[in-house]
Amino acid sequence: MPLVTTTKMFADAYAGGYAVGAFNVNNMEIIQGIVQAGQKCQAPLILQVSKGARAYANHTYLTKLVEAAELETGLPIALHLDHGPDFETCQSCIDGGFTSVMIDGSHFSYEENVALTKKVVEYAHARGVVVEGELGQLAGIEDEVNVSAEDASYTKPEQVEDFVGRTGVDSLAIAIGTSHGAFKFKPGQKPQLRFDILEEVSRRLPGFPIVLHGASSVVPAFVAQINQYGGKMDDAVGIPEEMLRQAARSAVCKINIDSDLRLAMTAALRKHLAEHPAHFDPRQYLKPARDAIQAMVEHKIETVLGCSGKA
Ligand code: G3H
Ligand code: 13P
Ligand code: ZN
Repeated sequence: MPLVTTTKMFADAYAGGYAVGAFNVNNMEIIQGIVQAGQKCQAPLILQVSKGARAYANHTYLTKLVEAAELETGLPIALHLDHGPDFETCQSCIDGGFTSVMIDGSHFSYEENVALTKKVVEYAHARGVVVEGELGQLAGIEDEVNVSAEDASYTKPEQVEDFVGRTGVDSLAIAIGTSHGAFKFKPGQKPQLRFDILEEVSRRLPGFPIVLHGASSVVPAFVAQINQYGGKMDDAVGIPEEMLRQAARSAVCKINIDSDLRLAMTAALRKHLAEHPAHFDPRQYLKPARDAIQAMVEHKIETVLGCSGKA
């Protein structure tokens, strides 16, 4: 099958009480590691590309690699723009083979967010592409946008019906205490998510798919391995996996994971190069890095997302 939208994926996930993983991709090894895990677990996949990834690897290279992944596996795969910053970037991805885009107007005023999101939805829907919007602001860094913990704001449930109704978005990212990056909570701070906000949002939007960004667990074993082999990632901490599993059982149909992939890859590379100082063929160190991505994604599918066998 060709690349798909997320419409059926989300309907099935909502009904089945699981979530689909949305994994950030930046090069061939990352795509291959994710897709090998998806194939082994027979899981649907969302492969997402940020503005930074497009700048790093080029739109056409990434699109063709994701198309190759679908051709090789036959899995249901959606190609999604992560944190689309403006109409023009969304338009370029819609015209250039993506099946889903996010327009991230969360840092604008409410009315500006509505107007921009509506404009993207009209363009996308006319071309068979689905759209994710965002209400509320996560802390952390994505591309050049850096939101401090103080400036982050939870989603206001009283806005969601109006936002979804006026924009026509197909899914909605909300802020309930997750954040981007590998340092999600201050040292000593107890990880907490506002499940009360999630519940109130889903009560107001019955059957509607909710998206969770900033949802890496920052798996401690990989942080320890990075530190063991010369890295410096003290105080890295993520969302406990049982909280994410709880979210995946609810209206949350898409869970975004990037930092955990970065950690898995970096840990494998550091270990390999430390143990094999004479290696200089990139295939020697990129293979264990790709294997680590695969293991990480298999773990997410089985333990957090619950989407094994749902392809
Ligand atoms: O939420 C942001 C993602 O982790 C992508 O990160 O903008 O550095 O590619 P990036
Ligand atoms: P993490 O940094 O927690 O992996 O979040 C990724 C994300 O939300 C991408 O949009
Ligand atoms: Zn995000």
